[in-house]
This record gives sequence, structure tokens and C-alpha cells, in this order.
Amino acid sequence: MIVVIDGPAGSGKSSTARAVAGQLQIQYLDSGALYRVATLLYLKANRDHELFFELLKENKISFHFKENFFFVYLNDADVSEKIRTMEVSQNVSTVAAMPDVRAYVNNLMREVVKSDVYVADGRDLGTAVFPNAELKFYMIADLKTRAERRLAELRSKGEQVELETVMENIAQRDDIDSNRSADPLKKADDAIEIDTSALSFEEQVSSICDQIKPLIPSS
Ligand code: DC
Repeated sequence: MIVVIDGPAGSGKSSTARAVAGQLQIQYLDSGALYRVATLLYLKANRDHELFFELLKENKISFHFKENFFFVYLNDADVSEKIRTMEVSQNVSTVAAMPDVRAYVNNLMREVVKSDVYVADGRDLGTAVFPNAELKFYMIADLKTRAERRLAELRSKGEQVELETVMENIAQRDDIDSNRSADPLKKADDAIEIDTSALSFEEQVSSICDQIKPLIPSS
């Protein structure tokens, strides 16, 4: 079973989905993190497309959710921290716009959700990847609120970056993510929209949990 939360960068969907998974004791899947791992390979290939696709074939991307944290691995190496740098953020939308990369990531996700209950967050999960998801949410927040959240996250990791730079990066990513031809960021017609600018974190988490709970099959 799968519940999806889509929305633009910094709308709060990842932290919300993670908290929801923790409270309901279900699995969490961060699809953006998978595009970020692919981006590490793109950077390793020095942005050479041919080499990048070779690396994507040769290397294994895997993940698991444990103790409220979504871990991602490149082969056996834990790259969960490495994927959060500004350099990765500045290149990930380019990588995520490549149809072959999308097919690769979608395949990884569709395989795992067959065997457990998941809440996943992304951009196109409700429209392209899991159009039959049991429940769909679409989270939004204004640009400044979203940039402030990302800034706090980056600074907590010691990255020296200004609010304007993060706002520019997010606006640019919104633009690429929404206008690419391959599965753009888009609200599914049957998704429930949540504006997180005005809600407290606890409010949004408990509202989503309340809606998911009745759908979880009893084991
Ligand atoms: O959620 P995030 O910022 O970690 O996502 C990183 C990038 O991955 C984002 O700019 C767009 C892309 N992405 C996507 O195209 N489709 C998804 N389902 C998830 C993320």
C-alpha cells in the first residue's frame, strides 16, 4: 500500500512524511534522495552524459528507513549526508529531468512498495509513478518559507550559504521541475492540498496520520 505526498522543494513534505511514517510505524520512501544519489554519479562523471549512464548501470543504489532516518547507499557506502550539499542541489533537477533516470528510479520504487506499507514523497508520485495510490497529498508553501527551511537545514550542517542563494536555487528548481517534459511537478486531480505556510508541523502531521490510519491493513 502506498500514500504519496508531492510538492515543490522545501514545502515540508519530506520531514512531514518521515514523521508520519514514524508515528504510524510504516515505511518511508524519499524519492528525491534517489535522484540525489544519481546526481552524485553525474558529478563523478563530470556531467558527461555517456559516462554518467555507464556509472548508473555499474553502480547500485539502495536505501532503507531506520530510526526515523532515510539512509541511501551507493554500493555499500552510506551517502545520506553527501547528497544534501548545495552542489548536488544545484544539479539534481537537471538529472531528474532525464527520462532514463526517471525510469530507473521509478522502477526501484515500484519494486519495494509491493511488499509493505509506505508513505513516499516526491514531485510526480501521485500523477506518474503511483497514479493508483490509496491516498495523495500535495503540499505547498510560499517561496520564502521554503527557502528559510532549507537554509536552516544547510546551516545546521555547516554550509555557509545566504538566504538569497537558497531562494534562487529553489525558484530555479521549481521552474525546471514544473516545466520539464518528463513527468513534471504537478498536483494530481485527486490529491488533497495542504498549505504548510500557516500550519504547525504537528498539525500537518496529525491531520495526515488521521487520514491514513483507517486505510492501513491490519496484519
Ligand atoms: O525533494 P528533493 O529536493 O530532495 O528532490 C530533489 C530533486 O529531485 C528535485 O529538484 C526534483 C527531483 N525529484 C523529481 O523530479 N521527482 C521526484 N519524485 C522527486 C524528486
